Amino acid sequence: MTLWSGRFSSPMSEALWDLSESYSFDHVLFAFDVEGSKAHVEGLARAGLLSDDEATTLLGALERINAEYASGTFVRAENDEDVHMAIERRVTELVGDVGAKIHTSRSRNDQVATALRLYTREATVAIAREVLDLVGTLEEVGEREPNAYLPGYTHLQRAQPVLLSHHLRAHAFALLRDVDRLVDARDRLNVSPLGAGALAGTSLGIDPHATATRLGFREAFANSLDAVSDRDFVAETLFAIALLGVHLSRMGEELVLWTSAEFNFAALGDDFTTGSSMLPQKKNSDVAELARGKSGRLVGNLTGLLVTLKGLPLSYNRDLQEDKEPLFDSVRQVGLILRALTGAYESMTFHGEIARAAADDEFLVATDLAEVLVESGVPFRQAHERVGKLVAEALKSGRPLRLVAEESPDAKRFAGLFDSGSSLERRRSPGAAGPQASAAQAQRLRQSVDELRQRL
Ligand code: ARG
Repeated sequence: MTLWSGRFSSPMSEALWDLSESYSFDHVLFAFDVEGSKAHVEGLARAGLLSDDEATTLLGALERINAEYASGTFVRAENDEDVHMAIERRVTELVGDVGAKIHTSRSRNDQVATALRLYTREATVAIAREVLDLVGTLEEVGEREPNAYLPGYTHLQRAQPVLLSHHLRAHAFALLRDVDRLVDARDRLNVSPLGAGALAGTSLGIDPHATATRLGFREAFANSLDAVSDRDFVAETLFAIALLGVHLSRMGEELVLWTSAEFNFAALGDDFTTGSSMLPQKKNSDVAELARGKSGRLVGNLTGLLVTLKGLPLSYNRDLQEDKEPLFDSVRQVGLILRALTGAYESMTFHGEIARAAADDEFLVATDLAEVLVESGVPFRQAHERVGKLVAEALKSGRPLRLVAEESPDAKRFAGLFDSGSSLERRRSPGAAGPQASAAQAQRLRQSVDELRQRL
């Protein structure tokens, strides 16, 4: 018998049961549902709908059930359709008739929205912390080799040299925007739907504001229909995770390139690489490939939910049960990626000499040649043209650009520009890729990290 069997004459068909049961995945909400139920019971007592003794009995039962779940001894009954029904069924089993009062003034519609918000509130903060750990690791990897540099690329063609720490910070600043988005999502979702009932509130004297405060929500819902149908917070969280996943994927792709024999800019530790079942020499960067691959499903979880939401009339519709698996999946998967990628960066050895040799490619000095001409008064477009001709001449004759430049009428101005590291040194405008701009950037990064940690 289900908890709503009163108006039905035959039990649910097995096919419908299989389609509609959700305990198999929504048990993840167990502790959050207990938390919401405790606040609800206290609210009922304040409203005089439960005596103090009844409330104490119910609160004790809820705590006991929570402990059962935490220790793995909670047993789902055959008719427990979802986590909410399982908990209510067990409460009634433990305390008899008083249990039948726990659902007063409450519907699973406001109940599930409350539990899901509590879950999401915790999840966004947990993910944000792990992203900050990764940012810390990127900073450490850069600090390990403060003088290391590599070619910076556009179109995957060598463009200009950049410090390793500068390069890694490009990822770090993107990740900090992800943290900012997660914290924003957390702040916006922090509104309690409890007390909205099925869709229209209740005739019984409960106070949604008091339960909101009790659960640490910023405020209570303003509109009951909105309260039970709003899943913006799930969509926003999925978006924040999907974009974070895109950033992690981009980092993964870069590690795949860096650890290939073709680039050979870095190697990952043996504990963060895998072998091949057939090819004995292989050392594969699967961690980076999975970071890249799993981002696809994070995007899929977001788009799937948006499609689920787009055609729904107000207010609660059972379609909304489909919000959970994508959310739980994205939360779990992004955690796996973050922890593994952080470990991979920690294990990474950067091949400074190989990267420097690539960055000392003399063509990467071409822009500097043009810039010194600008310093001596040549309009940039003409300077660009003059240097372009030198490059063309070097390519055509097969002679080094340095020699071609030394024979040009501007040779004196070009003196020293071809020395190793000179081009990097010259990248000194605010936020630039050279060593001079690095300290200010590091400070700005630290400040953002501190500010975000405070907001968590
Ligand atoms: N398991 C359901 C869900 O996740 C709980 C709400 C059920 N409400 C209802 N009116 N059938 O959405």
